[in-house]
Amino acid sequence: MAKKTVRDIKIKGRKVLVRVDFNVPMDKKTREITDDNRIVQALPTIQYLVDQGGKVVLFSHLGKVETVEDKAKNSLAPVAKRLSSLLGKEVRFVPVTRGPELESAINELKEGDVLLFENTRFEDIEGKKESKNNPELGKYWASLGDLFVNDAFGTAHRAHASNSGIASNLECVSGFLMEKEIKFIGGAVDNPVHPYIAILGGAKVSDKIAVIENLLNKADKVLVGGGMMFTFLKAKGLNIGKSLVEDDRLEFAKSLIEVAGNKLVLPVDTLAAKAFANDAEFRVCSVEDIKADEMGLDVGPKTVELFTNVLKGAKTVVWNGPMGVFEMENFAKGTVGVCEAIANLKGATTIIGGGDSAAAAIQLGYADKFTHISTGGGASLEYLEGKELPGVTSIANK
Ligand code: 3PG
Repeated sequence: MAKKTVRDIKIKGRKVLVRVDFNVPMDKKTREITDDNRIVQALPTIQYLVDQGGKVVLFSHLGKVETVEDKAKNSLAPVAKRLSSLLGKEVRFVPVTRGPELESAINELKEGDVLLFENTRFEDIEGKKESKNNPELGKYWASLGDLFVNDAFGTAHRAHASNSGIASNLECVSGFLMEKEIKFIGGAVDNPVHPYIAILGGAKVSDKIAVIENLLNKADKVLVGGGMMFTFLKAKGLNIGKSLVEDDRLEFAKSLIEVAGNKLVLPVDTLAAKAFANDAEFRVCSVEDIKADEMGLDVGPKTVELFTNVLKGAKTVVWNGPMGVFEMENFAKGTVGVCEAIANLKGATTIIGGGDSAAAAIQLGYADKFTHISTGGGASLEYLEGKELPGVTSIANK
């Protein structure tokens, strides 16, 4: 069902509440923003609302706020500054989450003005009001505006007061980022164009079980790399030495290998190292030749070639999770190779489902080569699992 968007509502002169996901990584010591992608991705919606003459009230969570001490390191003040410089206009920052200071700041807004108020999770200090979707809080925040726009896909898997709670009191429409995420991630789950190839990596099978199962039902091939490949290889009876393994998932991996048949494509070679360190001695070897004192830290070149060949002719590709320990230079080639193979595909819709693979593609300079890089981590994983996301469900249908 198509969702209402900011294009479907009258904005001029109205107080528009906008839930964004400005939960951005920050340097622990300096509190400098280390990656502003989520702010950049929210700009089209904010700019549109400004251009349409809306009075824009932005709000977001940042990190987890359990104690009063957590407040200082999780203030959105640095985000307001960065947003202001990206937008090229003043963003008024209000350092509270409720009360007269916030209410009068909102009432003073003129058409085209932008305000950001403090971290919604500051409300969690008194009994998880935001995270437990306290109905009074949702009602209060809804009372501050005339319209509600949800552009926070990254937090759409949470039913919190600042998304579901407000939406229970005020009609909710999607912003452009949310619309794009629904189109691409939702589209890959519900309506993919075939051939459809999914590439899954990352350390643990346990994090991806539901995604693998769901995508095996939808995709034509599922390629598995990253640390989790070793649980599958061990399930096939291979020796994996000291490689990462989840023994309690071996039965699951075995049954999946049986059910999936040749739909599931596993690596054929690896970079086997003596220790978990960038400067550790390593060699390229077949997955059938890992020695007892070695651990696989990346997929090998033959696997990159194999995956590249399987990808040829794909019309939809979803990638989630690195192929190896890509933060160590010596074990990044598998991830880089797969990233390049997807980026070079012609005529395919290519989607990165957030998290580390999104960071890797952006860091490697391939951001423009993908059709869509999700801003969601947990949200895109749950979407790919086929789950309903409360933040998406609460957006009004057209
Ligand atoms: C994320 O970074 O995945 C979202 O902002 C949600 O954050 P959370 O896991 O703290 O709810």
